[in-house]
Amino acid sequence: MRTPIIAGNWKMHKNVGEAIEICRQLDELVADSPVEVVVCAPFTALSALNALGLKKVKIGAQNMYYADQGAFTGEISPGMLVDVGCQYVILGHSERREIFKEDDELINKKVLKALEVGLRPILCVGETLEERKAGNTEQIVVDQTTKALAGVAAEQIGEVVIAYEPIWAIGTGETSDGNDANQVISTIRQTIAKLYTAELAGQVRIQYGGSVKPGNIAEFMEQSDIDGALVGGASLKVQDFVGIIEY
Ligand code: PGA
Repeated sequence: MRTPIIAGNWKMHKNVGEAIEICRQLDELVADSPVEVVVCAPFTALSALNALGLKKVKIGAQNMYYADQGAFTGEISPGMLVDVGCQYVILGHSERREIFKEDDELINKKVLKALEVGLRPILCVGETLEERKAGNTEQIVVDQTTKALAGVAAEQIGEVVIAYEPIWAIGTGETSDGNDANQVISTIRQTIAKLYTAELAGQVRIQYGGSVKPGNIAEFMEQSDIDGALVGGASLKVQDFVGIIEY
């Protein structure tokens, strides 16, 4: 049985005070949930969130660089994230790929490094609207998944969480329909089975992401291959995020 995982991706929102307030409330409200709950906050809030000693809510980052240290102005190392209590890190989000020109090779280096230091990557994959219309969705996600996981050892694959996020559904209010998302996610699982084994693929948690809200979460969670959600906009309000966690 895979433990469902709901992660909030706050993107570039919330100052330290707001982050503390939300996480304090969230930690109480979802204390008894069987779902694993993660908040991926801006770098500036991580240290303060760690100091709260949250019981239920785990902390994650939204990006990192793959080097241990050095002359990389403006970057944050994997060890720095561990140092402030992060257990997860989102890697390869489509906004990183599109706006900051991250490619599969860079994302692969980050995935390997995250695992090396004990951070669990939330690896994002997904197609653009053009790619979907051209019928290339499955090929795109298979390709992104395969390249990002190159060199990941069989003993580590269970630590990886994958988020299938169709780019056209992110922040748009448009969502993939549950069956459709499940089909793409089952293709991702088959890809992992080919790279590793069916048994290991069965341990990897794969989320859906893209305009998830309290009103549509159940449609995704009732699918056989969907193990959770990566939530952007709706994770910024405690009530909405709790509504999703309590699907
Ligand atoms: P959204 O974002 O929920 O606001 O669509 C999801 C994401 O980008 O991870």
